[in-house]
Amino acid sequence: MQTPTNLVKEEGQQSSNCCAPSCCGQESTGSTARESVTLSAVATPDAIKAQVKEHYAKVAVESTSCCASSCCGQEPIGSQLYDGDSLALVPVEAANSSRGCGNPQEIAALKQGEVVLDLGSGGGLDVLLAARQVGPTGFVYGVDMTDEMLELARRNAAKMGATNVDFLKGHLEDLPLADNTADVIISNCVVNLSPEKENTLSEAFRVLKPGGRLAISDIVVDGDLSGLPVSEAQIRSGLSWAGCIAGALTVDEFTRLLIEAGFEGIEITFDHHYQAADFLGQVPDELASLPMAVLTDLVQRFGSASIKARKPS
Ligand SMILES: C[S@@+](CC[C@H](N)C(=O)[O-])C[C@H]1O[C@@H](n2cnc3c(N)ncnc32)[C@H](O)[C@@H]1O
Repeated sequence: MQTPTNLVKEEGQQSSNCCAPSCCGQESTGSTARESVTLSAVATPDAIKAQVKEHYAKVAVESTSCCASSCCGQEPIGSQLYDGDSLALVPVEAANSSRGCGNPQEIAALKQGEVVLDLGSGGGLDVLLAARQVGPTGFVYGVDMTDEMLELARRNAAKMGATNVDFLKGHLEDLPLADNTADVIISNCVVNLSPEKENTLSEAFRVLKPGGRLAISDIVVDGDLSGLPVSEAQIRSGLSWAGCIAGALTVDEFTRLLIEAGFEGIEITFDHHYQAADFLGQVPDELASLPMAVLTDLVQRFGSASIKARKPS
């Protein structure tokens, strides 16, 4: 199978070397950014989800077309998150549709026979990689709300001949799984997209078995968004939800929500802090007019983090 070189982690490279715009949104500046300003200013949870769904439906469709790969001179992912040997094991369309910001497999340390759930499974890359790690005695569920992504993931699983996986349609905030189902929950750059994170984390807690672990990658704010010449509300409303930035939690908020959901043993570690250059093509006009020093300060507060927690036994 073909391996997309831009997903391949090179020797000595950080695992979360993803630039934020291409992690999730891969959007250009201009009309998309301005639309999201308008949307965010009035956004309800349903409106945010509709925006996110529309965006990822497009990603799913494009990932099977020429423009998903470097044939159009465009990097589909822009990150080196996985080692090439792993990627060679999955259909190229799974890798092309990936919009992660880290590598949950590395965080999760999966074992043979485990039952895994991937929150926001997209085109199935993390599910298919996890399926190989848990082996025939294990099982991996992917949950996603976007039909186009589910169809793509099911096609990718069939291509790979994976029989220990299932892709379920559903929302993170109301998971279509019974209590105490999974040994491990993984997720790659999706919790930030949920407009109702309390529900998402309490649902994750519910479907984990006692003693089960959460092992996810996400974009998180290191510190807070205070002390800037624009308010946090202006910053968040000026950024796109689909780009995985507007809904990013701070470390303190993430920790609090995990504790409130019932988790223990919480660890949040930054793998990569973003740089202004990562965001410049993405920043909407409202924020792009900020002095470069301010913009740099703002952008560096966001990073890709590994988040671990445990459901008490
Ligand atoms: C950033 S992509 C990540 C996909 C995959 N984990 C990867 O690494 O490529 C986000 C995926 O999460 C799904 N998603 C976002 N918010 C969701 C929600 N609230 N409920 C269910 N799926 C959601 C989207 O449809 C999309 O497929």
